[in-house]
Amino acid sequence: MKWAPFSNRQTGDLNRVEAPVTLRGYLLCAFAAFGGILFGYDSGYIGGVLGMNYFKLQFGHSGSTDPSAYHGYLYDTWQKSLITSILSCGTFFGALFAGSLADWIGRRSTIIAGCMVFSIGVILQVASTTVGLLVPGRLIAGIGVGFVSAIIILYMSEVAPKAVRGAIVSGYQFSITIGLLLASCVDQGTHNRMDTSSYRIPMAIQWVWAVILATGLFLLPESPRYFVKKEQLDKAAHALSVLRGQPVDSQYIRDELAELVANYHYEIENMRASWLDCFRGGWKPSGNLRRVCLGMAMQMMQQWTGVNFIFYYGTTFFQQVGMKNSFIISIITTVVNVCSTPISFWTIEKLGRRSLLIYGAIGMLVCEFIIAIVGTADSGSQAANMCLIVFTCIYIFFFASTWGPAAWVVIGEIFPLPIRAKGVALSTASNWLWNFVISEITPYMVDSDEGNLKSKVFFIWGATCTLCVFFAYFFVPETKGLSLEQVDRMLEETTPRTSASWVPHDTFADQLTRADVDKVTSGMGAAHFEKAKDLGSSSV
Ligand code: BGC
Repeated sequence: MKWAPFSNRQTGDLNRVEAPVTLRGYLLCAFAAFGGILFGYDSGYIGGVLGMNYFKLQFGHSGSTDPSAYHGYLYDTWQKSLITSILSCGTFFGALFAGSLADWIGRRSTIIAGCMVFSIGVILQVASTTVGLLVPGRLIAGIGVGFVSAIIILYMSEVAPKAVRGAIVSGYQFSITIGLLLASCVDQGTHNRMDTSSYRIPMAIQWVWAVILATGLFLLPESPRYFVKKEQLDKAAHALSVLRGQPVDSQYIRDELAELVANYHYEIENMRASWLDCFRGGWKPSGNLRRVCLGMAMQMMQQWTGVNFIFYYGTTFFQQVGMKNSFIISIITTVVNVCSTPISFWTIEKLGRRSLLIYGAIGMLVCEFIIAIVGTADSGSQAANMCLIVFTCIYIFFFASTWGPAAWVVIGEIFPLPIRAKGVALSTASNWLWNFVISEITPYMVDSDEGNLKSKVFFIWGATCTLCVFFAYFFVPETKGLSLEQVDRMLEETTPRTSASWVPHDTFADQLTRADVDKVTSGMGAAHFEKAKDLGSSSV
């Protein structure tokens, strides 16, 4: 069955570089998005746990005058920011390390290894009764999440058919939002318990997601582009045939494989694939340096939209501005996040990545400035609090339908194969680095015994979102509807502002010299396809 709901940027022969999308192929690629639940749940559950009375009693100390203290019991500001942000510190290093590992043992195996590391971190967290054990637990779990978050984007971008790649990677963001929502619900369900189960249940549930992800990935094929990089073309042909639902020796599989191999040969001629190569090529749009800066800046700016202020510190912030039901308000914001993300499945392919980023940032900055102005002019009033809730929800709507998914989609698409694993890893590490920096500094901006900015903090997020608009306009190219190999060519021939009107004019396989063709096709002889067929009969 054909199943490609979105339009392509090309017609005719150029479409032959990939088989038509089948529902089965779509679902196979979409399963990996499940990894987002791990990411979302893990980063989300801690906000609610920090707001729990039993947790304040167990992990804090007496004598606090903060309005959010429980009978005077509270942890210090530095402990709160350390417990929250140490996860991002682990994910930062995990993502970087995973960039090398994914080229070495494969994309799929790296994600499974990430689930194992993560499980060790979960055990330590559940066992903890002091900050001293909780922090290493979060750090180790973070390393595992780093593996998973960097390599899932890489894996999904590499296995997804081009017409639905944006939608499939947006599915990852959708899972992140579901993870955040599940975390809020679990926190809500246990926060009134007055024993260790209040925080241990939310911590232990993290493990379930890791088990489901690792088990599911065992059943999925490795990325064909990884096998091309390893020059194992029989395995590449077999993986492609499983993913595209076409016989291994069909013309579609031969054409797509020829294009992957030809592109790889073309790219590898100009570079090896070391970390240093990520920083070569200068400032032209197709240069590796420019692409790596774009990916890292993209993720940095996504964090500077201020979204995690709501998801990490929302519960305690709403308590600080005098709202009752802060747990319920946090759940509402996460529900808005979940419900708005699927809009991007369609818009990301229809309107494109660039437009979503530009208009999304404009929507967010308007909301943030309204919250800041009303909250400052009429601080603590019923009206200001209502405004805070309503515009926080509209703000989350804009984030979830634009920058949330688009930032991940873009980093999966802009790197050439030789440095793709490392480029995606660096970009993901940048997400976590800025996630860490921002979650580390925000308590100092808003806590009553520190900056006590209250709603004024939204002036800062409004200003940084304004920078996001300029960033998207000047630096982000339009990649919708192109194969990853065509994106390479587009970057060579356009600038970000002219990229949307570029159409593919030939394939890499077309451009090979006679010698190159021999080199490529000698690796794709009948023997390879026979071997790939054998692989087919022994595995998925
Ligand atoms: C961001 C996270 C954020 C989440 C919210 C992701 O794309 O990278 O930092 O918590 O979206 O849905």
